[in-house]
Amino acid sequence: MGKVIVGHISEFPERSGRVFRMGSLELALFKLSDGTVKAIENRCPHKHGKLSEGIVCDHHVYCPLHDWKIDLHDGIVQAPDQGCVNAYRVEVDGDGEVILFLEDGLEAKVS
Ligand code: FES
Repeated sequence: MGKVIVGHISEFPERSGRVFRMGSLELALFKLSDGTVKAIENRCPHKHGKLSEGIVCDHHVYCPLHDWKIDLHDGIVQAPDQGCVNAYRVEVDGDGEVILFLEDGLEAKVS
């Protein structure tokens, strides 16, 4: 599994989406009020709304197009709607660097 530094924690506004692109992949990253950072695909499973432009409440983001509610921990759409987006592991190291962890298959896709 590979990892990529996507910025410093000070560059991430709280509860506001930040877009990160690698190859054909586009992610939406969110710093939550507890200081953790979450990463999901920036593409709503309904009609491809940009989740980075959604409203964040606790650990959910509401799609800006039709208000589907998506859990930022696991990418799962909340009932009554259904679906999911890929969610990626993110850690903040002791220096405040935000590190995105990639799956093996994803590394090949983005290189
Ligand atoms: S495109 Fe996201 S809820 Fe419709």
